[in-house]
Amino acid sequence: MSLAAIVLAAGLGTRMKSQLPKVLHPLAGRPMLAHLLDNLARLAPQRVAMVIGPGQESVAKVAAPHPCVIQADRLGTAHAALQARPLIDGFQGDVLILFGDTPLVTGQTMEKLILRRRETDDPAVVVLGFKPSDPAGYGRLVLNGAKLERIVEVKDATEIERAIPWCNSGVMALDGKVLFDLLSKIDNKNAKGEYYLTDLVRLAREAGRVCAMVEGSPEELLGINSRAELAQAETIVQNRMRLQAMDDGATLIGPETVFFSWDTKLGRDVVVGPNVVFGPGVAVGDEVEIRPFSHLEGCVVAKGATVGPFARLRPGAEIGQNAHIGNFVEIKKAVVEDGAKVNHLTYIGDARVGAKANVGAGTITCNYDGFGKYHTDIGKNAFIGSNSALVAPVKIGDGAIVGAGSVITQDVPAGALAVARGKQASIAGWAETFRAAKTQKKDA
Ligand code: UD1
Ligand code: CA
Repeated sequence: MSLAAIVLAAGLGTRMKSQLPKVLHPLAGRPMLAHLLDNLARLAPQRVAMVIGPGQESVAKVAAPHPCVIQADRLGTAHAALQARPLIDGFQGDVLILFGDTPLVTGQTMEKLILRRRETDDPAVVVLGFKPSDPAGYGRLVLNGAKLERIVEVKDATEIERAIPWCNSGVMALDGKVLFDLLSKIDNKNAKGEYYLTDLVRLAREAGRVCAMVEGSPEELLGINSRAELAQAETIVQNRMRLQAMDDGATLIGPETVFFSWDTKLGRDVVVGPNVVFGPGVAVGDEVEIRPFSHLEGCVVAKGATVGPFARLRPGAEIGQNAHIGNFVEIKKAVVEDGAKVNHLTYIGDARVGAKANVGAGTITCNYDGFGKYHTDIGKNAFIGSNSALVAPVKIGDGAIVGAGSVITQDVPAGALAVARGKQASIAGWAETFRAAKTQKKDA
């Protein structure tokens, strides 16, 4: 299909009260704009033009490879769309207008809008309308049967118009042949003194063209203007991902308490307990169990492993097949090979834990001396006694045993026992003598 898209993202987002451009505020860990562009990509448009504000290189970066035009003065949504002219001019197909702050609209819904645009009555403008529970600041759609007559912004609306439940999502499909002619006719004689994109409908009607509305769901069409709306959008995105994870064969025991990142990958028969949080870059293999209250980011967990409860997997953690990572264990930039166990109260950073090794409770890899980071290598089948400190760089050979409470500063050969702690001394009868002396003193 012949399709171009204009994405408006130059707005200041004043209501966010933020240094960060509004469209870069994250949903599920990535900018809302990236979500929108991903949804749009499904339609494979021939051209995409981004309209951004001055000094918003960070927005251009997220928009890449789509070209950006800069709207130097924010004079309204119609003015913004007009800036895209150099990138879209001469395009005879359909043009989709999207708002960077309305990122949840799915590709499927965009498609529905374009199909309506292509019906035989040849509407010049098809607006994606919806009935939000709170129509607050949205423009209202003035309908005449199935036909759309005009859109009125709240600030310009009469009391009767404000009572209209149908709202403008901002998403529109337009006839590219007339779009820029109509846009250039829009003026700013309204309550806000802005050039309103919504005036397109009235102008198209005056030019004798039909305009139409397609209904969308409020969930998809939430416009994000404030932090509260950002949080609502996050909930919607999280719910979508929870359903998707379950559809793909994962069990979520308390889905509403599990938080995903946009790129979380779960295998089949994964069980995720309540209150688990996935940061970006996590891939979990089949049959893994992630127990409650675990936090994972930038890590890979292979088939059959168990993680948690209360485990923290940080970037660069690679957990092998059937490995066990237990409670209050933190793993960073470390490979825990197949079948290894790190079960209790342990920090493993910049390390390898060999296959089937057992790391006892309270073990710490001392990987940092205030200047550099150093590696700890634990061989396969090694056994590290509880409360050991492994001072990196250090190597524990295959099958070696480290006695509990050791501070290991030198390499341990394969198969050896290393004990590095004060030698125990027991003095026979000492406790009894001590108590007797103390009691005598107290009585006297
Ligand atoms: C707009 C619509 C309103 C609709 C609502 C849906 C107009 C006049 N009003 O209102 O009917 O119900 O969206 O969420 O179109 N932008 C620019 N340059 C500008 C102004 C805005 O690029 O000069 C961009 C913003 O970055 C944003 C989008 O356009 O992505 C919408 O702007 P915003 O100011 O949020 O419009 P609303 O008041 O929400
Ligand atoms: Ca808005």
